[in-house]
Amino acid sequence: MSLLRNLLLAGVAAASLSGMAYAANNMSPEAIAERTKPIGSVYRAADLEGFVETAAASDSDEPAAARSGEEVYTAACSACHGSGAAGAPIKGNAEQWASHVEKGRDTLIKHAIEGFNAMPPRGACGNCSDEEITNAVDYMLDAV
Ligand code: HEC
Repeated sequence: MSLLRNLLLAGVAAASLSGMAYAANNMSPEAIAERTKPIGSVYRAADLEGFVETAAASDSDEPAAARSGEEVYTAACSACHGSGAAGAPIKGNAEQWASHVEKGRDTLIKHAIEGFNAMPPRGACGNCSDEEITNAVDYMLDAV
């Protein structure tokens, strides 16, 4: 019986020791910082600097200047429209574009902005303005 009792006591002691160790770890500045950090990441303006610069026309001081069709195409559309990925009509391929072109420019622009079948809204370009999407559509239409 006393062996069992000693074993039990040893177990309790070990458990409370590890509990103390846990409590001590738990109060370290790192642990507290980890526990109290905000959920999700917060972007500071500095984090977005490169991104915002990319969004502005590279050769202009005007922050709101729309990117050219070629710039938008290269950044946001070429992944699919350069290769035909997801069934996208390839830029410059008149045959593939024929059935699209006949819908008229306004419809194509509307579909590029709002999305159409496997064509994601704005080509999934979150920071592309309507004007920039229009420029990109014109850029592709000019090629056919
Ligand atoms: C994820 C791939 C993908 C990306 C990125 C993408 N497209 Fe598309 N796009 C498609 C597919 C697929 C279609 C064919 C949709 C159909 O006709 O069913 C399409 C069709 C179109 C059409 C014809 C729509 C119509 O009504 O026939 C236009 C215009 C267009 N895309 C413009 C753009 C522009 C501009 C961008 C970049 C800002 C872009 N796309 C980026 C996949 C993509």
